[in-house]
Amino acid sequence: MNAIEAHGTYKVFGKRPAAGVARLKAGATREELREDGLTAAVIDASFEVREGEIFVVMGLSGSGKSTLIRMVNGLWAPTAGELTVCGEDIVKMNDKQLRTARREKVSMVFQHFALLPHRTVGENAAYGLQLKGVNRAERERSATEALAMVGLEGWEGSLPEQLSGGMRQRVGLARALAAGTDIMLMDEAFSALDPLIKREMQDQLVELQSKLGKTILFITHDLNEAMRLGDRIAMMRDGRIVQNGTAEEILNEPANEFVAQFVQDVDRTRVLTARSVMTIPAAGDGRLLGQPVAGTVAAVDADTRLSEVLGACADCEGDLAVVDSRRRLVGVLSRATLLQALGQLAADAAHDASADPASDTTPMEVTAR
Ligand SMILES: Nc1ncnc2c1ncn2[C@@H]1O[C@H](COP(=O)(O)OP(=O)(O)O)[C@@H](O)[C@H]1O
Ligand SMILES: [Mg+2]
Repeated sequence: MNAIEAHGTYKVFGKRPAAGVARLKAGATREELREDGLTAAVIDASFEVREGEIFVVMGLSGSGKSTLIRMVNGLWAPTAGELTVCGEDIVKMNDKQLRTARREKVSMVFQHFALLPHRTVGENAAYGLQLKGVNRAERERSATEALAMVGLEGWEGSLPEQLSGGMRQRVGLARALAAGTDIMLMDEAFSALDPLIKREMQDQLVELQSKLGKTILFITHDLNEAMRLGDRIAMMRDGRIVQNGTAEEILNEPANEFVAQFVQDVDRTRVLTARSVMTIPAAGDGRLLGQPVAGTVAAVDADTRLSEVLGACADCEGDLAVVDSRRRLVGVLSRATLLQALGQLAADAAHDASADPASDTTPMEVTAR
């Protein structure tokens, strides 16, 4: 079962929104609706978030990301289409069922932390559990445990104002963890943080996620963040999902010119993995595939980013074994292959840079951000 599923989901704001959906289905544009005072915030969105993955929704401001996550959160009902969370149909629920589902299944981390200023860090972390009616001792135990997970051991008694921005967002994260839901929704959760802190939080999130196996729906307007965090990424533009795939798929096969321009400045060595450039030994050596690789052999995990493979390769001689998480051989990476791949990437980047930038103006806004 998928954690979240949307099929042809719409959200239109304004008077008679259902009529707006009918018009969109008949081919009307977002702009035409806008002229009549209707905002088509989410248009015909279909996607699936698998259990235990980080799914990123990426798009410029105003593209409908927050509206989408608020529907998943049960704050807003879709105007049309289907939306299920843990197999339960959000659209068919009444208010009471929605509130329960929200508490039991999802927790949300906001950009501006949403901490209660007069409550301690411990109380803030325990807040979701208090709403659920969990008793005090249990709440405190869970909050302390969650705070420790995000590196805030010993801060239980402090007030939010005594914490830096990064630490406050850790409290926000701890609150979501303490709530114990399988799904975490994060709306631009790191967008207000300084770059270094942001980076730290991203690393920590990835680590927590792999340890706890949470399903995370993460929203951002920062493409590098999307690429760093997302197992899969949905690119949104003007209310629509224009592409849905892994970072590598989006880089290598952009669905349209908009996406292509959007991703052109991404450092590909930080996204592409050893798996994407390795060679698979044929015939003779092929029989080693799937076999464990000895500890003495230089090896990299197939999911290692090329930028890190370079580091690993700097002082190794000969080929690198590419292995899976159980150190079984899945491929081989020679220095020549690696250099060739990097050369190809550099050539692609040079070609992209010399392409006519006037063909589509919108993505250029991205670099200005
Ligand atoms: N409650 C609302 N009422 C009317 N329009 C809204 C409301 N919330 C969002 N919108 C509009 O929907 C569009 C998408 O907004 P939003 O989902 O917040 O985008 P994002 O999070 O990607 O910046 C915007 O045009 C926004 O002005
Ligand atoms: Mg938003």
